[in-house]
Amino acid sequence: MNMVELIQKKKEGQSLLPAEWEFFIQGVTDDSIPDYQTSAMLMAIYFQGMTRQETFSFTNAMLASGDIVDLSALPGIKVDKHSTGGVGDKTSLVVGPLAATCGITVAKMSGRGLGFTGGTVDKLESIPGFRVQLSEQEFIEAVRTSGMGIIGQTGDIAPADKKLYAIRDVTATVDNISLIAASIMSKKLASGSEAIVLDVKCGSGAFMKTEQNAGELAALMVDIGNDAGKKTIALVTDMSQPLGCAVGNSLEVIEACRTLQGRGPADLQELCLMLAGYMIFAGGASATPEEGCSMAERVLKSGAAFQTMKQFVQAQGGDVRALEDFSRLKQARFSAPCIAEQSGFVASIEADRIGLASLHLGAGRRTKDDIIDASAGLLLKKKTGDTVEKGDVLAVLYADDRDKLQQGIPEAAGAFSISSNRPEPRPLIHRVLI
Ligand code: URA
Repeated sequence: MNMVELIQKKKEGQSLLPAEWEFFIQGVTDDSIPDYQTSAMLMAIYFQGMTRQETFSFTNAMLASGDIVDLSALPGIKVDKHSTGGVGDKTSLVVGPLAATCGITVAKMSGRGLGFTGGTVDKLESIPGFRVQLSEQEFIEAVRTSGMGIIGQTGDIAPADKKLYAIRDVTATVDNISLIAASIMSKKLASGSEAIVLDVKCGSGAFMKTEQNAGELAALMVDIGNDAGKKTIALVTDMSQPLGCAVGNSLEVIEACRTLQGRGPADLQELCLMLAGYMIFAGGASATPEEGCSMAERVLKSGAAFQTMKQFVQAQGGDVRALEDFSRLKQARFSAPCIAEQSGFVASIEADRIGLASLHLGAGRRTKDDIIDASAGLLLKKKTGDTVEKGDVLAVLYADDRDKLQQGIPEAAGAFSISSNRPEPRPLIHRVLI
């Protein structure tokens, strides 16, 4: 096989055979294919697309390029949950305890964030003492204790994806649905769970800006998962405004704890119950997703899920007292309000601008070596549809540095649109693909 012929074939819009995709991915993994040929192939895929069968082959080849996590030492059905990412998305911290309390084993590997705010692992690290690097034996022990565990990426999962992503990033070939689906699913399929629930976000704060694109991505990922023999379900959910009210690492941990205590924002609670319900169903602990949701609601109301959260944090070395006494989390030195300049209704809160504001405040990373400030971020005091009087506080911003605070304020203020008409409410869950 020869790479020039394969690029030529794809350039002409022909489908490549599974063995041809294996050849390409193998060559990317062992560096025998130079970056210029990889770039040319990515651009040919970008313009010509891949059939469903090609996308499956491409994903499987990337999956096989590295380690596959073995969770067989853990009891029960392991269900993973993945979000395509959004602003204020702390669902894993709530959904994990809900599903685990209902009998699902949640053994997750999560990433660090690059961009707006931290990833789940960064959020957890804002709890004093919490360890995201555990040996395999420690991880298995931690999950046995509480029914759940979340650690940073270990081993060499889908190394071909790592290399391809770095090239896609600099060749303007990231935003292709087949490439995104293959990238996400190769890592999820390697993570050892038997079932996967995907939260595919759409809106200004998400990768996919429109419901149409998010729906296409969700459908493709569900097909890839099911083709690989894993029960896969996707929910397409709204990210036109931030989820919940907290954006920033320790602020999101606090909001997740409040939600598990039944005191969380309505949108976050609704989405978490729904995702947990589908995880419980996917893991076979309920006959229907609706029954799964009711089970999740019961363990939220009874406080049992919050107990699971405490056990999980303790098992991974975190200071459990910080989950109730929030003064034990790092506090920002400075804060400032963002004030409404007119009265009316909040017509929209652009999630991407809130994300950018939190990045200015120090809550995210511009490059992968940046250090996150756990205390930085913002709390929304108004959400879309709320009434506002001129002079009301729209959000409170937190930072450890006055200059950062000053940079965040105009960005956060610019995210809010105030109108004299109440906006039509947007659904939180646009569709479910099962
Ligand atoms: N997230 C991934 O892991 N891969 C992509 O291609 C896009 C988002």
